[in-house]
Amino acid sequence: MIRKYKQSDLQTLRQITAICFAKVSIDKNIEDRFGRIGDMAWEERKMSHIDDDAAANPDGLFVAEVEGEIAGYITTRLNRSTRIGGIPNLAVLPQFQRRGIGRQLIEKALAYLRAEGMLYARIETLEQNPIGTSFYPSMGFTEVARQIHYIQPLSESSD
Ligand SMILES: CC(C)(COP(=O)(O)OP(=O)(O)OC[C@H]1O[C@@H](n2cnc3c(N)ncnc32)[C@H](O)[C@@H]1OP(=O)(O)O)[C@@H](O)C(=O)NCCC(=O)NCCS
Repeated sequence: MIRKYKQSDLQTLRQITAICFAKVSIDKNIEDRFGRIGDMAWEERKMSHIDDDAAANPDGLFVAEVEGEIAGYITTRLNRSTRIGGIPNLAVLPQFQRRGIGRQLIEKALAYLRAEGMLYARIETLEQNPIGTSFYPSMGFTEVARQIHYIQPLSESSD
């Protein structure tokens, strides 16, 4: 059910990203407040993060399949010097949510990070995301900080 990523998955993962992050992404918040920036939709900005994850560490990207259909994915990053790994992105399509797939993806990512010699794993979420308070702590993560994101237009024509 959870398998390694292959390059031909990328388009599907990009689509899943656009669907899953509509309520829980800084890129969408920015578009809601300021409109499109540089004629690029928030989906395109958010999807580019998955391109970056796939380019940076394709071996640490895992895909969940249900009856041959891709239901979700998780991405990871390694830092060999700090030995703190990261989970930048995780998504499960709404129709497959609440069946334990997210949990399995995190377990897979943690096992991978451990096997690659990482000593700790980091993950982030937004305060507006309902999963933050329960899901990640239940997977063994401890909250260590809250961050505030700001943005401002740099010219009158850009807002
Ligand atoms: C986060 C996400 C990947 C979880 O996937 P999932 O397959 O539904 O996860 P699971 O079924 O393993 O659920 C794990 C736990 O998360 C919590 N959870 C999941 N969805 C939730 C929701 N909508 N509200 C509150 N808690 C939720 C529950 O504690 C759940 O455990 P439970 O079902 O035993 O109560 C999925 O909701 C998603 O893609 N969300 C949008 C994108 C996102 O938020 N990504 C993470 C960004 S940091």
